Amino acid sequence: MERLQKVIAHAGIASRRKAEEYILQGRVKVNGKLVTELGVQVAKGDQVEVDGVPITQEDYVYYLLNKPRGYISSVTDDKERKVVTDLIPDETRRIYPVGRLDYDTTGLLLLTNDGELANLLTHPKHEVDKVYVAKVKGIATKPDLMPLTRGVCIEGKKTAPARFDIISIDHKTGTSIVQLTIHEGRNHQVKNMLQAVGFPVQKLKREQYGPLTLKGVQTGQFRELSHKEVNQLKEQVK
Ligand code: URA
Repeated sequence: MERLQKVIAHAGIASRRKAEEYILQGRVKVNGKLVTELGVQVAKGDQVEVDGVPITQEDYVYYLLNKPRGYISSVTDDKERKVVTDLIPDETRRIYPVGRLDYDTTGLLLLTNDGELANLLTHPKHEVDKVYVAKVKGIATKPDLMPLTRGVCIEGKKTAPARFDIISIDHKTGTSIVQLTIHEGRNHQVKNMLQAVGFPVQKLKREQYGPLTLKGVQTGQFRELSHKEVNQLKEQVK
């Protein structure tokens, strides 16, 4: 069951707010009966009409993609670069990425047509942990990275405290592999945070998103989330 205004909004007819107005204005019918109050729930098979025009209820779909480098986290690109939805070619519903990964960042990206869940997941107040693994220039030590746990200033605004782990260091190439867990999603946040403590990022991969990992999904591949996984995500943003 879904709230009526959500079903109308999801059909692309109007925003949630507008859909509420339509209901209050007496423009919406469910199974032929006028509905003028908010909060009514509708089921899959219910026939919803706005101004006498039936709407089609589209199923929600949730994909976990292992994004390769060289794809834009968008649905279209004005420079005609490849976009992440190209990797899910047979999907005809209007799916879009939940947040974004940079063009050269790889790893876990969710795509869905559930705008409400997407908005909740990307809101920093919900603090969904995202785990990144970065290859950085320089030999990182714990004291070097400690400021990340208190937050660092980026473009005049302090980041929320992050957790880090040094996975390995390579003295030969003068590089380190660092894992960073954050729950915000500012633009280029991980790159900027590591740069702020003196370690420019050479490669970046997102390995986890809340309870989800890339296990079993090769680069460029995707899978649908199970009901259980979708519910776990919903639990995180309650
Ligand atoms: N932080 C970044 O710097 N880039 C990404 O793609 C994701 C997080």
